[in-house]
Amino acid sequence: MADELTVACLGAGLIGASWAGLFSAAGHAVRLYDPAPGALEAAAARVAQVHADLIEIGVLTGRMPGAVTYAASLAEAVTGADHVQENAPERLDLKRALFAEIRQHAPEAILASSTSTFPPSELFEGIAGAGRALVVHPMLPPHLMPIAEIVPGPATDPAAVEATAALIRSTGHEVIRLKRETPGFVLNRLQFALLAESYQLVDRGICDPVELDRAVVRGLGYRWACIGPLTASHLMGDGGFAGQLRAYGPAVRRVMSQLNVTEPWSDVLADTIDAPLRAEIPLDSIPAARDARDARLKALRRLRAAD
Ligand SMILES: NC(=O)c1ccc[n+]([C@@H]2O[C@H](COP(=O)([O-])OP(=O)(O)OC[C@H]3O[C@@H](n4cnc5c(N)ncnc54)[C@H](O)[C@@H]3O)[C@@H](O)[C@H]2O)c1
Repeated sequence: MADELTVACLGAGLIGASWAGLFSAAGHAVRLYDPAPGALEAAAARVAQVHADLIEIGVLTGRMPGAVTYAASLAEAVTGADHVQENAPERLDLKRALFAEIRQHAPEAILASSTSTFPPSELFEGIAGAGRALVVHPMLPPHLMPIAEIVPGPATDPAAVEATAALIRSTGHEVIRLKRETPGFVLNRLQFALLAESYQLVDRGICDPVELDRAVVRGLGYRWACIGPLTASHLMGDGGFAGQLRAYGPAVRRVMSQLNVTEPWSDVLADTIDAPLRAEIPLDSIPAARDARDARLKALRRLRAAD
């Protein structure tokens, strides 16, 4: 595993507190900072939950967790840190101001943003030490979804990508290293492609929202928890990937050519999807539904622990 490092996590919301728990469970010393009143107290409870989750699924047991300290200022969190993971709200101005401040106190640290949407070229433009700045995009919740994508900017040094990949792998997670940036990176491009077609299927009256989700949970999701879509195609017949293209290519092309979406959704469609989902999970039940999601994720992780 990577050496034990000092990792600063800035922002202790859904993403930051989960990262903090994961990095510390892997033995790294973590400093967590969030300026909102009460945020660090809530984060301490979340970090304890993350450690309990990771022990429950049998990941990183037997390793001494690194200390987690709750910093009173950004400077205290980042000074001397090897890696800074930024998890502030998704606002470009706010993030860029944070990076400038981080660089005053941690000019040499690897500067990683959890951003879901901003390309590194925009995020880090003109920032000092851009060679050591990149995006490390997790999935929610970061400690249970065992993947993060690493997105370099045009100025990012390959050594920074490698060091970051080693840190992420030290937690038991895998990485996807993008060769260059693209809007939505890889995970969200795949997710948005499926969402765009899901919206169309509801809009065209082919399927209702709850049944559409069932098609993924009971169908595609089961398969995709075991093998990826390209490998699944390879296994379809004895001729491998090329063989299935020969056998099904014309039919698949005909459907794929209809998938271009120029207007993904309307307000009316948003209401059509929102109403049955709220009936199924009222807004005040969302925290409980998240817990149920995490319980299923933990069961899957336990099942796959030996892979
Ligand atoms: N929620 C997701 O599904 C998800 C998934 C992947 C990536 N992300 C990305 O992670 C980042 C954080 O998202 P989140 O869902 O945790 O948001 P969140 O709103 O839960 O947490 C953001 C935290 O940042 C804190 N904050 C505000 N100003 C700050 C500052 N100046 N310095 C440090 N912290 C500050 C807030 O107090 C809050 O606790 C965003 O960039 C988001 O795009 C989110």
